[in-house]
Amino acid sequence: MSLLEVIGVTHTYAGSRLFRRAGRQTPVLTGVSLSIEQGMGLGLLGASGAGKSTLGRVILGLERPRQGQVLFQGQDLYRADASTRRQLRRDLQAVFQDYTSSVNPRMTAGQIVGEPLENYERLSARELHRTVGELLERVGLKAEDARKYPHQFSGGQLQRISIARAIALKPKLIVLDEAVSSLDMVNQTNILALLGDLKSIFGLSYLFITHDVKAAYSISDALAVMEKGALIERCGDKDQLFSSPHPVVNKLISSVLSEHPRYRSLASSSNPS
Ligand SMILES: Nc1ncnc2c1ncn2[C@@H]1O[C@H](COP(=O)(O)OP(=O)(O)O)[C@@H](O)[C@H]1O
Ligand SMILES: [Mg+2]
Repeated sequence: MSLLEVIGVTHTYAGSRLFRRAGRQTPVLTGVSLSIEQGMGLGLLGASGAGKSTLGRVILGLERPRQGQVLFQGQDLYRADASTRRQLRRDLQAVFQDYTSSVNPRMTAGQIVGEPLENYERLSARELHRTVGELLERVGLKAEDARKYPHQFSGGQLQRISIARAIALKPKLIVLDEAVSSLDMVNQTNILALLGDLKSIFGLSYLFITHDVKAAYSISDALAVMEKGALIERCGDKDQLFSSPHPVVNKLISSVLSEHPRYRSLASSSNPS
């Protein structure tokens, strides 16, 4: 049994005024199927508007698809009863791009990281304090940072706090949606290394959503590519994707190249490193 199975998911945003005026509904996802095994990192690539974030929200249980199923640990996320859903959600965490709005500015780092623990586990104040300190240290911050507020941290540090919160309950799968895209190169590299370490320590699985081919390549075991709401490529071995790149992949490679000239090796070689 796969950890996650997405089966024939189709979705349309009903509320969009643009679609209503045009008198038609353009599907945002069309028959998307994919699976993620325990301990595996799947990179999901695609240009802006391809439907990646929508698929991420569907997988997280946040956006009920029009058709299709999401099976997490063999259970249908959208048909499970409330208490099963709550248990499934515990093992399914997310880190988003916008770290400034994904943390509450009035909560301390300790409260932010400790919130899932308070929701799901009965820890004494002392145990909670200790666990939060350990989580902060695990992501390269200090236990004392628990007292600080979001405005006292840099972007890279805030994203570490989001990661500490996401791993607090030792989930099975973390959906990372453009989680390093707003960071500078040094922070990107550091966070990707941290995610790689956490994956091997905890046997975590990732869905790593990005438009950045290089970031996806460095963190993933397998890669999938989306275009216009459909999954157009799925490679169990990530190097396969670059041996004869699909035009969409080539376009993504060149868009990354124009942002970062040091990625030139990626375009000229079929085996980026
Ligand atoms: N809440 C929403 N309501 C209506 N349309 C949306 C909504 N979210 C996304 N879309 C549209 O769905 C398409 C896919 O968006 P998204 O899933 O965010 O793609 P990606 O993450 O690949 O950039 C886009 O055309 C976008 O404008
Ligand atoms: Mg997106």
